[in-house]
Amino acid sequence: MVSRVIPVEVFDLVIFGATGDLARRKILPGLYRRYLAGQVPGESRIIGAARTELDSAGFRDLVAQAIAEFMPSAPRGDDLAAFLALLDYVSIDAAKGEDGWRTLAGLMRDGVVRAFYFSVAPSLFGELAEKLHTHGIANAESRIVVEKPFGRDLATARALNATLASHFEESQIYRIDHYLGKETVQNLMAVRFANILFEPLWNSQFIDHVQITVAETVGVEGRGSYYDKSGAMRDMVQNHLMQLLCLIAMEPPFHFDPNAVRDEKLKVIRALQPVPADDIVRGQYHATKTAPGYLQDSENPESRTESYIALKVHVANWRWKGTPFYLRTGKKLRARASEIAIVFKEPPHSIFDDAEGWRENVLVIRLQPNEGMNLSVMIKEPGPGGMRLMQVPLDMSFADALGEEAADIPDAYERLIMDVIRGNQTLFMRGDELEAAWAWTDPIIQGWEARGDRPRGYDQGSSGPEDALMLMHRDGRRWREIRE
Ligand code: BG6
Repeated sequence: MVSRVIPVEVFDLVIFGATGDLARRKILPGLYRRYLAGQVPGESRIIGAARTELDSAGFRDLVAQAIAEFMPSAPRGDDLAAFLALLDYVSIDAAKGEDGWRTLAGLMRDGVVRAFYFSVAPSLFGELAEKLHTHGIANAESRIVVEKPFGRDLATARALNATLASHFEESQIYRIDHYLGKETVQNLMAVRFANILFEPLWNSQFIDHVQITVAETVGVEGRGSYYDKSGAMRDMVQNHLMQLLCLIAMEPPFHFDPNAVRDEKLKVIRALQPVPADDIVRGQYHATKTAPGYLQDSENPESRTESYIALKVHVANWRWKGTPFYLRTGKKLRARASEIAIVFKEPPHSIFDDAEGWRENVLVIRLQPNEGMNLSVMIKEPGPGGMRLMQVPLDMSFADALGEEAADIPDAYERLIMDVIRGNQTLFMRGDELEAAWAWTDPIIQGWEARGDRPRGYDQGSSGPEDALMLMHRDGRRWREIRE
């Protein structure tokens, strides 16, 4: 199989917050990978912008170090030198001073794509949008890329949308949810809409329930102060898990086109029912003898913020009436494992006596690690001695199926940045979609705040709080094991 790399148009990409963690870890190494893959035309420019006083040579050193740290096996030498030659730097304080802005304005070229990546604190988004405008740096074709968190509730998200809308058209605004850039997440759409096999069964008549798990082994080390104001609901469910749910639950869009896809996702979000308190379990990881717990990591001994959440969600429409979606995500869990499991119902009538041997069909889409798909089916247990049943997996790991090419699959960020340059918004959240997601999330958070709920403790390295198991047991179901 030969992967097709189609170069994008020549661009000027300005990264605000270019010396920050996200830029060093993901954005700049990602751009280097795309450069190595032949996707970045040599006349393009990547302009770092941040408060740090640096010249372009200093910025190139910083990027070379980031590449050495986060892409240890990437080629150095001529390739790296040619990539570094695309870089420039402007020292800008978004909140004060005009000098940097004038310098940046002077660097802009006509006739190339202009994109501005806001990899900064959300409080600066409005300021950046305004300054790009007043200094004539952004034009009608420019694109801005906005990182999460996009608001912390409906009111703040609306205000932010309104601020951005006063300077940019919706078609110029790219709200990033990096989960949408993950290979397997996009594969969800291919699996559903490029096969006849699954879609006829993709409804509450045949699907018993859906489980979405995003389990992490990391804690909140180093990000405690941000995370403590957020918690798993705002940090993960309102965006990443919500997007996964949308891709599973949405109706087929008429075309794989940005607005057609986003229209269908929006309908799912609007159909989400309010979640009663009994259908939510929140948790906080305990300290161990050697490792700090959530309260120490967040440096807030009184914190009631959840580092784990499980919830049962209903999509109130014809397709999904009666099929619950169980969502869970948490930090410091047993393994880093993200998957979607579609658990099918029993056949209407069994012709076999071996009722005990029967297990349900499950389609598992593994997002990370070991991306792939696994469909468990029933077969006859081999050998003589009557008709006994057993469950076997039809297993496909993308690494095996794609061979060497799997190693070249772009990381979520690099794919999304290339989509920005191409002007393709399919994998970005539209303003109304984001507001609808907050409109569903707000009452859930307000509910536990009003009740003064405290999260349940859970052990580090476990599957989360015991009560989360009960969330499913009481429905006669069980969570899948969290394992890599
Ligand atoms: C981020 C969250 O959006 O996603 C983090 O803020 C989380 O808390 C991360 O760790 C998970 O992303 P990934 O790609 O490692 O699954």
